[in-house]
Amino acid sequence: MDVRNVVILGGSGFVGRHLAARLRHEGRRVTILSRVLDAARRDKLPPDVEVREGDVYDPAFLRAAFAGTDAVVNLTGILNEHGDDGREFERVFVALTEHVIAAMHAVGVRRLLQMSALRAGEGDSHYLQARGRAEQRTRDSNLDWTLFRPSLIAGPGDGLFCRFDALLRYAPVLPIGRAEARFQPVWVGDVAEAYAHALNDAGTIGQRYDLVGPDVMTLAEIVRMTAAARGRRRLVLPLPRALGRLQAEVGEHLPGKPISRDNWRSLQLDSVSADNGLPRLGIAPTPIPPQLPRILGIA
Ligand SMILES: NC(=O)c1ccc[n+]([C@@H]2O[C@H](COP(=O)([O-])OP(=O)(O)OC[C@H]3O[C@@H](n4cnc5c(N)ncnc54)[C@H](OP(=O)(O)O)[C@@H]3O)[C@@H](O)[C@H]2O)c1
Repeated sequence: MDVRNVVILGGSGFVGRHLAARLRHEGRRVTILSRVLDAARRDKLPPDVEVREGDVYDPAFLRAAFAGTDAVVNLTGILNEHGDDGREFERVFVALTEHVIAAMHAVGVRRLLQMSALRAGEGDSHYLQARGRAEQRTRDSNLDWTLFRPSLIAGPGDGLFCRFDALLRYAPVLPIGRAEARFQPVWVGDVAEAYAHALNDAGTIGQRYDLVGPDVMTLAEIVRMTAAARGRRRLVLPLPRALGRLQAEVGEHLPGKPISRDNWRSLQLDSVSADNGLPRLGIAPTPIPPQLPRILGIA
């Protein structure tokens, strides 16, 4: 399988910029599709990556972008929607995946690496349910697909440790719901490596890989580790269930939705896996705690 040209949807984000750098390092040509990319986000991407701005929901734009490429990577994603009816998750995950699959068929591109999430299709969150339907569309696509299902992804600029770090800067006490929820954060470099490996290995076609780190951590432990890495003395206050739900209810109506009703529903499921795909891909999972200074930019 000679994959020289790769198109990445959602490639302007956290995972995308690490993956683009990884693929450029191997000498592949990378094109990122973006709805719109301001200079600050462009600056975070490798300079020799091509960016095509446009409406990724427009079939003609996708067909033109995919023509002549060898593989498509779909990293598009949101964690919150406006409202709470599942419609935006449906559009971003399911409808867009359908458009991508149709455009690939139209121009004869067969290789699709599709991002999903651990526990997709389980529980009652709109996010995980839409993810599950997108997985099913991918499996039914009759393309050469590979699915990736990470737990939370950790790395410089992430939405996990860096987000808590920002909150802990000013908050002496951090009340959190579902503090006992368990995660297995995976290193962003390992995620990029998994994608790069899949492009080289036809044996990954038709496979689904959970991507998790070596350590299981509760939400409370993640917050405490973040504070400790900065030498901050902070009190993490696990909320009883009813208060956790109330916190999500309040967060739903705050600007930027720091936590939403749907986040709360997702949080009910532990994001852990007993079937780590990284070793199957020949990748030794990177322990996260030693990476914390690097993640937070204090190393
Ligand atoms: N980060 C994690 O911990 C984690 C864990 C599990 C799964 N994932 C999944 O991994 C993928 C990459 O995650 P990430 O952390 O890199 O996300 P990210 O930084 O938020 O980037 C996602 C990209 O999706 C595009 N996007 C956002 N909203 C969109 C919309 N409404 N319609 C179309 N495109 C939209 C954006 O591109 P433009 O603005 O340039 O169009 C953005 O750069 C996502 O699918 C995410 O759900 C992430």
